[in-house]
Amino acid sequence: MEMGKSFTKQEAAVLEEIIFNRRDVRGNHFSQKEVGDEILDKLLSAAIHAPSVGFSQPWEFVVIKNDAIKQQVKESFNEENQKAKLLFKNEKEDLSPNNEKESLYARLKLEGITEAPLNLAVFYKPSASPVLGQTSMKEAGLYSVVCAIQNIWLMARALNIGVGWVSILDPEKVKCILNAPPQNQLIAYLCIGWVDKFLHRPELEELNWEKRKEKQAVVYYDTYL
Ligand SMILES: Cc1cc2nc3c(=O)[nH]c(=O)nc-3n(C[C@H](O)[C@H](O)[C@H](O)COP(=O)(O)O)c2cc1C
Repeated sequence: MEMGKSFTKQEAAVLEEIIFNRRDVRGNHFSQKEVGDEILDKLLSAAIHAPSVGFSQPWEFVVIKNDAIKQQVKESFNEENQKAKLLFKNEKEDLSPNNEKESLYARLKLEGITEAPLNLAVFYKPSASPVLGQTSMKEAGLYSVVCAIQNIWLMARALNIGVGWVSILDPEKVKCILNAPPQNQLIAYLCIGWVDKFLHRPELEELNWEKRKEKQAVVYYDTYL
């Protein structure tokens, strides 16, 4: 078997920079400039080089450039976001922080479906036969698709291309709009494009919606005790 490549410290540092500087990009930051096929090809290649349970590669991608299709997906976002807004409203009695969250939520831009020149729907295609490694944890196939999405996100950032993940959608409506096979599951709807700028920190952190958790708050050693 051929041996894999060894990386230098400098190369590792570049990857670290890409990871730290990856951002979720919303519609207020996308430019209309077209994303070339070469870039799209690089993003899709990154996706299909992700790890997958039993090397099952259970992913399928729909590249969307058509404005009418984007508009239909945006309508699903609008519907779902209306419902989401109410959820934050219902927490009003909780007093302080959520009162602010209610008005902040209403002001948040949470997608870039029509602004981004390129949309990418990422699906999980379940296997009809048993998959090595997926016999106990059935979700391992879904996790594999998420690995592909993260690869896209990081590759895009390395190319200075912005990606925004939109999950405030009715997956069944999106499937219907895209004529997806019934057994497929929508995992992500991504908005992709050139950006005016990348934020240094997550927008939700900048806006005091959430804080980044410290390592010591989430890492345990040997057991939880
Ligand atoms: C599974 C998943 C779903 C997400 N859905 C949305 C979404 O619907 N709308 C949105 O604005 N951001 C969405 N995001 C982006 C997160 O808000 C973002 O990753 C987080 O705030 C941290 O910011 P950063 O990605 O810029 O580091 C999603 C991210 C993930 C991983």
